[in-house]
Amino acid sequence: MAVDILLGLQWGDEGKGKIVDFIAPRYQVVARFQGGPNAGHTLEFDGIKHVLHQIPSGIFHDSIINIIGNGVVLDAIIFKKEIDGLRKYNVNFNKNLFISKKAQLIIPTHRLLDAAYENSKGDKKIGSTLKGIGPTYQDKIARQGLRVGDIVSDDFQSKYQKLRDSHKTILDFYQFDYNNLEALEKEFFEAIEHLRTFNLVDSEYFINKLIAEKKTILAEGAQGSLLDIDFGSYPFVTSSNTMAAGACTGLGIAPSHVGEVLGIFKAYCTRVGGGPFPTELNDEQGETLRKQGNEYGSTTGRPRRCGWIDLPALKYAIMLNGVTQLLMMKVDVLNAFEEIKVCTHYQLKDGSVVDTLPFDIVDAEITPIYKTFKGWNKSISEDINADSLPAELSDYIQYIESELGVPVSLISLGPDRKQTILRNSSITA
Ligand code: GDP
Ligand code: IMO
Ligand code: MG
Repeated sequence: MAVDILLGLQWGDEGKGKIVDFIAPRYQVVARFQGGPNAGHTLEFDGIKHVLHQIPSGIFHDSIINIIGNGVVLDAIIFKKEIDGLRKYNVNFNKNLFISKKAQLIIPTHRLLDAAYENSKGDKKIGSTLKGIGPTYQDKIARQGLRVGDIVSDDFQSKYQKLRDSHKTILDFYQFDYNNLEALEKEFFEAIEHLRTFNLVDSEYFINKLIAEKKTILAEGAQGSLLDIDFGSYPFVTSSNTMAAGACTGLGIAPSHVGEVLGIFKAYCTRVGGGPFPTELNDEQGETLRKQGNEYGSTTGRPRRCGWIDLPALKYAIMLNGVTQLLMMKVDVLNAFEEIKVCTHYQLKDGSVVDTLPFDIVDAEITPIYKTFKGWNKSISEDINADSLPAELSDYIQYIESELGVPVSLISLGPDRKQTILRNSSITA
């Protein structure tokens, strides 16, 4: 099959950027299929840390074509900053980066609307990254958005003004101050000029031609399955389909082309922003996870909420995505613990015990039921291989594999490319 999909199984920040960069040499194409600058994908190699927001994580490999797909919402201003930041690394954008003409454009008033909507929610805030994601997808669905391909048309200015004016009406309704709009627009139009100089393509034809040429493609997800607009903890979700199905609509590829679905998860759990989090630890252990895992948002710098791994949630994500291989991240963060807990079931308000996610998860008052494992409680050296893992870690992994019914093919022991162990050879060599 031509297209493998890598996606997050939790609430985002599972380590997608690191792994896409790590496995990219096995592919000829890397393509982002949804989300936008709400994403922050961290890559580390040669002692340098990079955080990518909109540019696919295959960009540091000279032989790889990177595509920003039609399902993405693109902020030209943030895109320009990202490109400027990468100039010193000799990336050949002309050869290696292609942007879908059908990707939706985030305009400055989308960001203002995001803030206006959040302000109006009082203590029910989603915790949006305030990058304008929701309002931009809203305009896409309302069939009034602007797309990247529009920037080369003669009437782009008037299309822009029409959309901006409709946004102003809403901002007025919310009594949201947009005095800074003129300055934002100046920056926006400069960024649009910059965007025009890139390869803007009919990405669905482009990618299907690559498929016909038997090129291997990795679709890179953003966010995670529990933030999916349909299946996440609604309304505390993002505004796109973060799941495997989203790769088909977000790139214009048929499901029959999909091969492996690589599901990535942390050996524990984090969430940034509002919404339910059954295994959240508001105690010293949560603080230890945050400290050891350096759990602060890559995009917003916000502290991430931390808790134990949640098997009912992982089972749900695996079911929805048809995950064929699991990649377990940040195992090193658990080095600090003498005991490690795994949530196997939820106890609901009425006393029933389930391993499925209730419809009303937001108000469900779930009590997690845990199985406790002995920790390995020591640091694991980097030159270790899959056969010499501490027995306690092997037990932990085997239990998770047997509960989830999918093999763990890779474990990650640190942020660097090199701190990665393949457990079996099933990740395409
Ligand atoms: P993404 O959004 O899924 O790409 O993940 P982020 O980049 O937002 O967050 C993952 C964070 O964990 C980043 O700071 C990574 O550098 C870091 N990271 C990735 N894998 C590991 C790992 O195995 N161990 C540790 N300690 N950090 C890791
Ligand atoms: P990556 O790709 C973690 C969260 C926000 C908020 C909710 C909605 O780095 O894993 P939005 O700005 O999309 O309207 O915010 O979703 N969120 C993320 N959390 N990682 C992300 O991306 C996220 N992108 C959005 O914190 O709760
Ligand atoms: Mg992230």
